[in-house]
Amino acid sequence: MQTTTQVKQASEKGLNRYQDIRFGMFIHWGPTAVAPRHDWLMHGESISVPEYEKIAARLNPTKFNADEWVSIAADAGQKYIVFTTKHHDGFSMYDTALSDYKITAFTPFKRDPVRELVNACAKRGDVKMGFYHSLLDWHHPAYRFRKESGLAWSDYIAFLHGQVRELCTNYGEIASMWFDGDWPNHVYDEKDSYFLPPEGEWYEYDKLYDMIHTLQPDAVIINNRHSDPILPGEDVQGFEQDLPGLNTAGFNSPTISDKPLEVCMTINNHWFHIAGSVNYKSTKQLISNLVRSASAGANYLLNVGPLETGEIVPTHISRLRGIGAWLKENGESVYGTRAGVINPTAISVSTRKGDTHYVHVLDYISDSVTLTGVPDTVKTARLLKGGEALPIEHRDDKFIVTIPESGRDPMDTVVVLS
Ligand code: GLC
Repeated sequence: MQTTTQVKQASEKGLNRYQDIRFGMFIHWGPTAVAPRHDWLMHGESISVPEYEKIAARLNPTKFNADEWVSIAADAGQKYIVFTTKHHDGFSMYDTALSDYKITAFTPFKRDPVRELVNACAKRGDVKMGFYHSLLDWHHPAYRFRKESGLAWSDYIAFLHGQVRELCTNYGEIASMWFDGDWPNHVYDEKDSYFLPPEGEWYEYDKLYDMIHTLQPDAVIINNRHSDPILPGEDVQGFEQDLPGLNTAGFNSPTISDKPLEVCMTINNHWFHIAGSVNYKSTKQLISNLVRSASAGANYLLNVGPLETGEIVPTHISRLRGIGAWLKENGESVYGTRAGVINPTAISVSTRKGDTHYVHVLDYISDSVTLTGVPDTVKTARLLKGGEALPIEHRDDKFIVTIPESGRDPMDTVVVLS
C-alpha cells in the first residue's frame, strides 16, 4: 500500500503575517556588481570558472551600510527584504561554512552582509528578512563538472540543503525562503548543463521543504517555478515581471491558485545593477503595480540592484521614496488587506479588509468612477486621505462615486467604501 506522508506548510500565523506585510524589497547583489554588464554574467558571456573567480575576488563594497539599506526599505513602506544569499553564479554572499567561495573569505571585504542586514532589521523591528537562494550553481563542481571532479549529484544536493540549513539556523527568525532556477516553462539553449539536473535527478524538495518548515515554522517558501499548482510544501505562488494572471513574460502561469500570491518585479529591466540601464518605471506605475498586485491578493516584491560600492542606485532610491510618501498616507488600503471583491474597471481596482473596501482610482476619464459588484453592506463612501464624504449614486447594478478634483491624488486616489 502506498503511504502518503503529510508535507508540512508554513504556519497559519506565518502565512497571515506574510500576506499582511504586502510590500517587500528584493535585493540582487553579488560579483556581477563588479562587471555590471549582464544579469547572468557568467552564462551570458560564457565566462570560465577561473575567470569569474577573478571578478568575484574584486568585490569590495566598502560603502555598504546595512542600516542605510534597511531604512531605505522602511521609508519606502517595504516590510520585508529578500536578499540573494547565492545567485546562479554560485557565489555565497554570506558566511557559509560549506565553501570558501564566499564574500567573507574570497574578497578583501571579508564582512557578512547577511549578518549585518539581519542585525539592522532586528534593531528596527519593522522590516523582516528573507533569503533568495539559487538552485542552480554554475561554480560548484558537483553541479556542472561531475565528470571532471568525480563528484555526484548527491554531493550537490548535500551542499544545497546544507546551505539552506545554515540560512535557517544561523540568522534568527526569517520571513521567507525564496528559490529560483527550476523553470518548467522555459526553453533552454545548448547550454543545458547550466540549468538542468542530470536526467532523473531533482532538488529533493520534500526533504528540503520539510527541513525549512521544521526549523522556521513561520517562514513561507516560494519557489519561482512560475507554476500553478505549486508543489506540496510551497506556500506562495509567484509571478515574475507580471501581475497575477497576465503572462506578458511568456513563462508565467496564466492561472492563479487559491494560495497566497507574490509578484516580483524590477524597477528598470534588470535584477542586478547593469551599467547604462534605462527604462525605469515611473513612481505612478510602480504604485499602480503595487495596488494591482494587492487587489489580486498578491504581495509586491520590488527589486533593487545595488552598486559595486555597496550603495543603492540613486534612481531606485528616489522611486522608493515616492512610493513611501504615498504609502504613508494610504498604507491602510494596502497592508493587511486581501484581494478585492468589487469588479476592477479600466481605471480602478480594489482591496478589502472585512466589510471595508478600498477602491484605488488610478486614472480619471470623468469626475466619477462607476463600479459593479459592490457588496450590499456598503452604505457610505469617503476619501481615505482627509476623510471627506463622497456622493454616491445607485443606478441598476451600478454604484457611482464622484470624486471632487481637490481630492484627487495623481498617483492613486483611495476611496473607502463601508
Ligand atoms: C529570474 C532570473 C533570475 C532572477 C530571478 C528573480 O529567474 O532569471 O536571474 O534572479 O528571476 O526573480
